[in-house]
Amino acid sequence: MKFFIDTADLDEIREAQDLGVLDGVTTNPSLMKSASEKAGRKLDFHAQILRICELVDGDVSAEVTAVDFDGIMGEAHALARIRDNVVVKVPLILEGIKAIRALDADGIRVNCTLCFSPTQALIAAKAGAAYISPFLGRVDDISADGLKLMEEIIMIYGNYGFKTEVLAASIRHPMHVVQAALLGADVATMPLGVIKKLLNHPLTDIGLERFLSDWRQYQD
Ligand code: E4P
Repeated sequence: MKFFIDTADLDEIREAQDLGVLDGVTTNPSLMKSASEKAGRKLDFHAQILRICELVDGDVSAEVTAVDFDGIMGEAHALARIRDNVVVKVPLILEGIKAIRALDADGIRVNCTLCFSPTQALIAAKAGAAYISPFLGRVDDISADGLKLMEEIIMIYGNYGFKTEVLAASIRHPMHVVQAALLGADVATMPLGVIKKLLNHPLTDIGLERFLSDWRQYQD
């Protein structure tokens, strides 16, 4: 399973990178806004994506904001020119699906974002998306089952041998990651806080404290 960090903040990306287990980055317009607020200035979008690509060898998702075919195509081509590892994020709307098909033909990889149903995921795969991003947490937020959605997508893709990778998005806590891994999701994108929580276990802390205390007594 690949681990991506869901942020546009360079410090967070560096911190995750230092762990040595980071495979890529996902960003979105809201995360760009948060990174700008933290920096105290409006970060230039393309320049920030380039900085991220310079830090991380793996795929870096950068999202278009146009919602019409020509606009999406123009933004996607400009983003793809930033660096080879840029994957263009396109929303799961009618014009987006048309654009995914055309971008695939142009050799530009797309992360199809804002997926909330198996039918959306099926169409995105048929259009040639490199990744599909079901938003687990946002589905759970409306009292539905985000993991069930992802399970159905994985089953459908398996039935037909689609190459589109399933990227578990909108992850809120470690159990989302565990369930995504059990279901066989290709990628999990997480905030830094969730990546760190994957490590935590109170018995590890208690066990280590006891080992170190016994070691000190053994040295005396
Ligand atoms: C995915 O690529 C999105 O950037 C992200 O996971 C959305 O998560 P949120 O629902 O926590 O905003």
